[in-house]
Amino acid sequence: MALGEQVYGYFIPTVNLMGVGASREVGNQVKVMGGTNALIVTDAFLAKSGMAGQIKEQVEAAGCRAVIFDGAEPNPTDKNVHDGLKVYQDNCCDMIISLGGGSSHDCGKGIGIVATNGGNIRDYEGVDKSRKAMPPFIAINTTAGTASEMTRFCIITDTDRYVKMAIVDWRVTPNVAINDPVLMAGMPPALTAATGMDALTHAVEAYVSIAATPVTDSAALMAIKLISENLRNAVANGGNMEARDKMAYAEFLAGMAFNNASLGYVHAMAHQLGGFYNLPHGVCNAILLPHVCQFNLIACPGRFAGIAAAMGENTGGLSVRDAADVAIAAIRRLSADVGIPTGLKGLGVKDKDLYIMAENAMKDACGATNPRTATMADIIDIYRGAMGESEEGGGSPGGEKKECCGDKPEDKAQCVAKEKENMYGVLRVNMSAKELKYEEVPQKYALLGGRALTSQLVLDEVPAGCDPLGEDNKIVIAPGLLSGTSAPSSGRLSVGGKSPLTGGIKEANAGGITSQKLASLGIKAVVLEGMPQGSDWHGIKITKDGAGLFNANDLAGK
Ligand SMILES: NC(=O)c1ccc[n+]([C@@H]2O[C@H](COP(=O)([O-])OP(=O)(O)OC[C@H]3O[C@@H](n4cnc5c(N)ncnc54)[C@H](O)[C@@H]3O)[C@@H](O)[C@H]2O)c1
Ligand SMILES: [Fe+2]
Repeated sequence: MALGEQVYGYFIPTVNLMGVGASREVGNQVKVMGGTNALIVTDAFLAKSGMAGQIKEQVEAAGCRAVIFDGAEPNPTDKNVHDGLKVYQDNCCDMIISLGGGSSHDCGKGIGIVATNGGNIRDYEGVDKSRKAMPPFIAINTTAGTASEMTRFCIITDTDRYVKMAIVDWRVTPNVAINDPVLMAGMPPALTAATGMDALTHAVEAYVSIAATPVTDSAALMAIKLISENLRNAVANGGNMEARDKMAYAEFLAGMAFNNASLGYVHAMAHQLGGFYNLPHGVCNAILLPHVCQFNLIACPGRFAGIAAAMGENTGGLSVRDAADVAIAAIRRLSADVGIPTGLKGLGVKDKDLYIMAENAMKDACGATNPRTATMADIIDIYRGAMGESEEGGGSPGGEKKECCGDKPEDKAQCVAKEKENMYGVLRVNMSAKELKYEEVPQKYALLGGRALTSQLVLDEVPAGCDPLGEDNKIVIAPGLLSGTSAPSSGRLSVGGKSPLTGGIKEANAGGITSQKLASLGIKAVVLEGMPQGSDWHGIKITKDGAGLFNANDLAGK
């Protein structure tokens, strides 16, 4: 949708206090808002450091009782929200003050929205699900990264699904946002770097977003400029108050941009890494950022050229396309300079989890405004590129790296190549692990095909008493023994498994050319086993080189 064809909103807290000493205003703000009993939501470190105690004293000096809840963990969870809510209710609180980085603010927002709307924090995943305003809310920021102190986003990990829920709701916008660089001066270099790169990611994703407007553009470009000029200094010398102050403005400007233009695949993908492995948000973003930019580049090279210029790169005389490349190189250099790890593999990310994370990333609300539309396979490719391995090192779960599934939207992480060109084998597809492998045909099955083979395999491998609709049942697909030859009427394809109706072995068969094709590809049988997580549909693509899974949601019901 182009500008001029729809209405764009602009969301921001009512009061925003910036600059050295801004946090000393908290007492006045509590008085203005009429709070009598505040819940201070923070994390264990900031409580122990004494920072939360200082804020509590200022709130109490303003005539408002205060109680500290220090249970906001990094990547805060639904459990943290509900623990905090209990403290809020037990102490009859009537306002919330979050103190910390994104985790404390998001936990406080989660508490606030459930306090007034009831239910469970999971009820609010999605866009504008609440019906009532939070209690009066002041957010005091201590990192220069997420901008959660001023956004309408609240990111909470669902501990059942290991997914970070994106709650996008204008009612979770704090009433007052305070950014005091003095509170940020104690951030160690690695935290400064990670949070600063998070802010850069916000600005870049907002600038290339399909929902960008001239208002968000100006904020995004200024944020990119300030981060490029000041992040290295802030990392090198945490006490450099000018660099800290500029970084505080930069993260706030980046927040102004993404709070309204939203984000893209970097965040959609980083949320999965945070939910799955509890990894630091800023580090995940920083690693993914150049890879997603590379993917997005053909959608908006002019925008990337603009980013290069905002980063202070000399793009004079370059074509737009070349200037766009300069932006990605500059992002990589900044990341390297401030010590961001080079790949996800070093953080413990495993190949086998890429499929489920990609599936969840495709559902994350942040992806909706990405400038280029990705398939599942694209997202997996981006994850794989960010793993930090050489081309040779990257491999499928089966250890093969050969492209085996042609150029269709296959999921390359979940494919297996044939070891021998003329192999005649059983293709086993484990849907729980999303793993495929070829097996030699056991001698006992050599003279079986079709119905005889499907039934024998079910008899041998499926426990007699299992639930036919449970994960122990298997579906076996086998061409007839003479399929793939010129023998007449030899093209039946048998499909067998334990029947939900009778509990016995049931077989059905079909004509057409599938059986002939499978047999001529050297497939004696395909054994489908296990049970996939989630509700997505999957397809299997089998070629002469190998086989792979792909997302088949677009085929469901057709
Ligand atoms: N709501 C939003 O708009 C939004 C946007 C982006 C990210 N997020 C979320 O924010 C979270 C990450 O927040 P974050 O990166 O600010 O980190 P964080 O809040 O998780 O804090 C990380 C660590 O830094 C410590 N810390 C915080 N301030 C410090 C200071 N001044 N000095 C020393 N240590 C300090 C904390 O105690 C904690 O141990 C993630 O859950 C992410 O998903 C939210
Ligand atoms: Fe972020």
